Amino acid sequence: MVNVIGLGYIGLPTALMLASHGVEVVGTDYNETLVQTLNRGQTTFSEDGLEQLFAQALAGGIRFTTEYRSTEVYIVSVPTPYDKDSKRIDPCYVVGAVEKVLSICPENAVIVIESTVSPGTIDRYVRPLCGGKKIHLVHAPERIIPGNMVYELEHNSRTIGADDPAIGLRIKELYSSFCKGDIVVTDIKTAEMTKVIENTYRAVNIAFANELAKLCHYEGMNVDEIIRICNMHPRVNILSPGPGVGGHCIPVDPWFLVGDYPQHTPLITQSMKINEEMPDFVFERICKLMEAHGISDFSEVGLYGLTYKEDVDDIRESPTLQLLERHPEAFHVYDPMVCGGLVANQDTDFANFLQHSRLLVVMVGHSHLKTCTEELEGKVIFDTRHALKGMDVYRI
Ligand SMILES: NC(=O)c1ccc[n+]([C@@H]2O[C@H](COP(=O)([O-])OP(=O)(O)OC[C@H]3O[C@@H](n4cnc5c(N)ncnc54)[C@H](O)[C@@H]3O)[C@@H](O)[C@H]2O)c1
Repeated sequence: MVNVIGLGYIGLPTALMLASHGVEVVGTDYNETLVQTLNRGQTTFSEDGLEQLFAQALAGGIRFTTEYRSTEVYIVSVPTPYDKDSKRIDPCYVVGAVEKVLSICPENAVIVIESTVSPGTIDRYVRPLCGGKKIHLVHAPERIIPGNMVYELEHNSRTIGADDPAIGLRIKELYSSFCKGDIVVTDIKTAEMTKVIENTYRAVNIAFANELAKLCHYEGMNVDEIIRICNMHPRVNILSPGPGVGGHCIPVDPWFLVGDYPQHTPLITQSMKINEEMPDFVFERICKLMEAHGISDFSEVGLYGLTYKEDVDDIRESPTLQLLERHPEAFHVYDPMVCGGLVANQDTDFANFLQHSRLLVVMVGHSHLKTCTEELEGKVIFDTRHALKGMDVYRI
């Protein structure tokens, strides 16, 4: 039996995947409301294919509880934030979960940490918790992307770090029950480092695109066209600029490296700052567009999108929330994926939102917007996501 600890965006699909592939699974979360929702047969967030996977897992006998179970294998998938001052990982959730596992698990149990952690975290914070108890520690970081989680769980390759290669192979076999991708077995610190570096690579490349957007705007040039042409070079692949970076990974994990290795990470530090400044750049552009179009009141500006990326309902660290936090003006806000009441002046009716928005700022390129282009006629549009292709809009 596998006890999955933490049933959020990562733990829940992982637990469901295992259970729907013949593994006996108990999912544990200390959030009672969440566990009650799952026990009522409802999923807790929306994601392509999740409902179907949930039904298969229920048929496979998955159970949800707030209790930890005594078993041979645990998968820990709890949050790993960073400390805003030191930039270092805050391991409190991982430590809390492992302490509870250790209080109940038998000798020789395997504890798999799936949460993303900075290199050395398991040695520094988890291993000392084991004391004299014989426990096998494993790190199996997750790579899936919200919006395509179910597909990627099955098809991505993955990394497993273990002290003992035989245990690594045993856990590889467990993940192979559903994972069709290559599974590399390595040591724990290498697995920790690779996961953080993968997200850091993304952050640095996004920062490069964002810097180009600022530079091209200053020069009055079209960054889209420039990137399109540059990417025709066989060894160039520039990403798209945007209004900032959100989610639980890319705006967080690279800071772990900055916190632990400040003298070795000037590029990463600068990249994170560039990405963090993008909501301010968007705000400045909004102010200039308002001036250019004779709009003096922020209540005539509509921000479309509250989530951190398109077609998901995850709002964590979203650029729109960052913008609103730093510039709490009377913007109207609308997001088809997010229920009302999250922020001030949030419309739940799209037509009503459009009526208020002389200037429409596309903060998220949800598919919904692309089906409504006729309704956007006559609006001044600032598209920070390059979502409205072929339309006459201002771009980032
Ligand atoms: N969300 C992503 O896209 C993504 C992708 C790859 C990796 N990760 C990593 O996966 C980890 C989990 O992220 P997430 O997005 O699933 O977080 P989440 O906040 O969605 O879920 C975490 C869950 O853990 C529960 N929890 C916390 N401490 C607990 C404890 N001691 N016992 C029982 N339950 C506990 C919380 O109630 C919550 O439901 C993080 O390290 C994250 O960096 C996330």
